[in-house]
Amino acid sequence: MQKIIIASDHGGFNLKTTIYNHLSELGYDIEDYGCYNTDSCDYPVYAQKVANAVSTNAQMCGILVCGTGIGMSIAANKINGIRAALCSDTFSARMTRMHNNSNILCLGERVIGQGLALDIVDTWLNTGFEGGRHQKRIDMI
Ligand code: RB5
Repeated sequence: MQKIIIASDHGGFNLKTTIYNHLSELGYDIEDYGCYNTDSCDYPVYAQKVANAVSTNAQMCGILVCGTGIGMSIAANKINGIRAALCSDTFSARMTRMHNNSNILCLGERVIGQGLALDIVDTWLNTGFEGGRHQKRIDMI
């Protein structure tokens, strides 16, 4: 099973904790790279920590949560080899695994509810990459 690295800033801390507990209960190998409370902090620090780990280990995937998910996705996608997908619906979560082989999922705590967020996480983790013509396009990035 893949190892999951999860992180957030203060704006995503509560949702990150919910996701961490959910995935731990399901038996996933998951590690929390911070932050560890709701004190104000800088999302690029956490995006880079997770993106650097995922970019050097094909057996890892990442989940990043901030207020909107946007800052995390912008920062993570600056790292070579990272395909971070910001999702607010399960269709996008499924398609970004099938077509983009995304290796980091970004979520916005202030955008979606916890129930939808957990559905998105489960969908993303349980969907595989289709390969074929999609790999050719990824190779062009
Ligand atoms: C923090 O207030 C907020 O800017 C951050 O969590 C995120 O939404 C940035 O994109």
